[in-house]
Amino acid sequence: MTQVPPLPVHGARQATAPDNLGVDRITATVLSQVNAPDPRIGQLAASLISHVHDFIRENHVTRDEWMAGLDFLARVGHWTSETRNEFILMSDTSGCSTLVDALNNVGPANMTPTTVEGPFHSSAPPRQMGEVIATSVQWARGDWTLMHGRVTDPGGNPVAGARIDIWQADQAGLYDVQDDAMRPGDLRALLTTGTNGRYWFRTVKPCSYPVPTDGPGGEWLRATGRQPMRPAHIHVRVDAEGFRPLTTHLFVAGDPYLTADAAFGVREGLTVDFPMQDDPVEIAANGMPGPYFDVSYDLVLVPADWATVRADQ
Ligand code: BEZ
Ligand code: FE
Repeated sequence: MTQVPPLPVHGARQATAPDNLGVDRITATVLSQVNAPDPRIGQLAASLISHVHDFIRENHVTRDEWMAGLDFLARVGHWTSETRNEFILMSDTSGCSTLVDALNNVGPANMTPTTVEGPFHSSAPPRQMGEVIATSVQWARGDWTLMHGRVTDPGGNPVAGARIDIWQADQAGLYDVQDDAMRPGDLRALLTTGTNGRYWFRTVKPCSYPVPTDGPGGEWLRATGRQPMRPAHIHVRVDAEGFRPLTTHLFVAGDPYLTADAAFGVREGLTVDFPMQDDPVEIAANGMPGPYFDVSYDLVLVPADWATVRADQ
């Protein structure tokens, strides 16, 4: 006869009679069995179970609806890969990423605001300051852009050795991972600041583009009657010793989707002007082929020891 191993017991617990599992009792019964060794996991698990049970009760979810929901989540998993994270897409287009970000990234008034990471981050090639990060085909199309600024602390002091990770889509709204004509690392860069904290790179101006709609993330948007566009932007992540990591975007000022971002990523302080520079001296000095967008933005990091304050307290 097979030996049945004893149930793990983390603490004193009453056995639950099977007739206690009806609509009114099931939540308390499940919660009575949550006994996580890690108290924070216990708190999050109990809260999640309670909220999902309430959702099922309040909406009188049918078995077919529940199974359709589970099937949907399974498909979100199947669409997730090294280069595309459908769970992040769902989190972003539901405002959950923005809520987590807003709760946890309070800092000094002049800090660069943080925003969602999005599903398209991947490791970028280390590059020299000033490099052209676009492909020769993208560069030949125009929309030349020079992006530059400084990485500083809130007092304006330069941060040396900051690693700036850049990623963006091209003039057609595609990332390297979405376009077979691009190689991994196109329109991406890893730059490291020197003692003056300065950074600069040459690229092309991004345009507004739709979030991927060919998978379950697109089904979700269509089912909820939502538009898929994001305003034009360049993603930036900065890591520096002694500072909080910064994940943000710089949005093109004037974009028509700034007030309707499908990923809820736009925040005050992240829209940047793209003024045209047509002075021949500047064009030659910066190695640009012709008039270009001259974009200046300083990235202000928060010291790691800045008092952690939650936005809801
Ligand atoms: C993006 O910036 O590429 C992105 C961000 C959130 C959701 C989908 C796409
Ligand atoms: Fe993006």
